[in-house]
Amino acid sequence: MYNVKIMGIHIENPVVISSGPWTRGLSKLKKGLECGAGALITETIVGESYPDTCPRYSYDRANGGVQNIRLYSGSELENWINDLKAVTQAKRFGSKTKLIASIMGTTASEVRYLAKTVERTGIDGIELGLACPIGQGPENICGDADKVYEYTREVVNAVDVPVSVKVSAACNLPAVVEAAERAGAAGISGIDTIRCILSIDVETQKAALPTYGGYSGAPIRPIALSTVAGIAQSTNLPIIGMGGIMDHKNLLEHIMAGACAGGIATGILLNGYDLVGKVIRDLEEWLDCHHIKDIEEIRGAALGGLKSFEEIKTEAKAAMFDSPCQRTDCSKCKSCCLEDAISIKEQGITIDKNLCSGCGLCLDVCPDEKIKLSWK
Ligand SMILES: Cc1cc2nc3c(=O)[nH]c(=O)nc-3n(C[C@H](O)[C@H](O)[C@H](O)COP(=O)(O)O)c2cc1C
Ligand code: SF4
Ligand code: SF4
Repeated sequence: MYNVKIMGIHIENPVVISSGPWTRGLSKLKKGLECGAGALITETIVGESYPDTCPRYSYDRANGGVQNIRLYSGSELENWINDLKAVTQAKRFGSKTKLIASIMGTTASEVRYLAKTVERTGIDGIELGLACPIGQGPENICGDADKVYEYTREVVNAVDVPVSVKVSAACNLPAVVEAAERAGAAGISGIDTIRCILSIDVETQKAALPTYGGYSGAPIRPIALSTVAGIAQSTNLPIIGMGGIMDHKNLLEHIMAGACAGGIATGILLNGYDLVGKVIRDLEEWLDCHHIKDIEEIRGAALGGLKSFEEIKTEAKAAMFDSPCQRTDCSKCKSCCLEDAISIKEQGITIDKNLCSGCGLCLDVCPDEKIKLSWK
């Protein structure tokens, strides 16, 4: 049904399983492949693996964000080679999911070696992970477009399979994307997690986890969308959008920001592999309902309406009620209005159009969606 390509490779559908511990080891790779995703990206394979720390996750229940301190894969290179060979020799267990190996090294020659080594296992493509915010190394690479060029060039020259470069919101964009493209990358993936301290307990005075980690999940989606849109506006390379995809609508947001496909990570961590199948089914249903036959019809659809700040219209607009509000137990709109344009009167809540500056905040805070003000 889908006409989707990532890194020049056709995939069955635009749902991708992003890199992480849910794609480490034969049994998890098998589970991932059975989900029906378009592609699966392994946890990042490194020359020297780091053990798992305990604990390594902290979850912000209220907002759905996760901090993790899992730096690359805990599995040794030798194990990875055996696992990937087992998968390709078993013909991916009958799955049509494309298998992408994520790699990272501390020197250009190390990534070259890793790329050649994983390619021999029969994988379909390589993702070069240059943006992990944990530890010291990678952020220095993705902040330096010359290094990104050097690492990407080494890998592209070493292998025949296509190479995607994974970036983060903290990368030196768009220079890094331009460098990756010049070096021969066939695609861009991202975003990776964002360096964070999830919280500090003010009683114990301790951070949630003992080191800086990577922030992921629903709260990073706005940052991911802006990064994906910015990348889409700077290159024609296919993008795998990642960051905060928890359902099919979030995936569509990434596609409308310019991605060809969307990767899920924290969604799987918190909900299990079944989420992947649900997103695939719900996406199909949504596309059918909207009579969309090809993802290309909506890819980048939101970019046309995204203007530069200088271009946006500033003509006066005033908020108005969609339906009158008689609530006596809520005054959120009044509390947030900096212009004192909202008053609570006997006949209900009113907006003084002469005072309203059209900021749009009262619409967002209203729990009943009673107020409207639209932009064109
Ligand atoms: C626990 C955990 C481990 C991760 N490990 C890797 C990794 O090994 N390599 C990598 O490129 N990205 C890794 N990521 C980043 C994800 O692939 C993804 O880019 C990021 O989490 C944003 O997507 P999300 O909001 O759906 O989680 C990891 C993310 C999490 C939460
Ligand atoms: S749009 Fe802004 S200024 Fe106008 S009523 Fe709402 S909060 Fe006040
Ligand atoms: S925020 Fe909405 S529901 Fe609350 S008082 Fe204002 S209009 Fe009514």
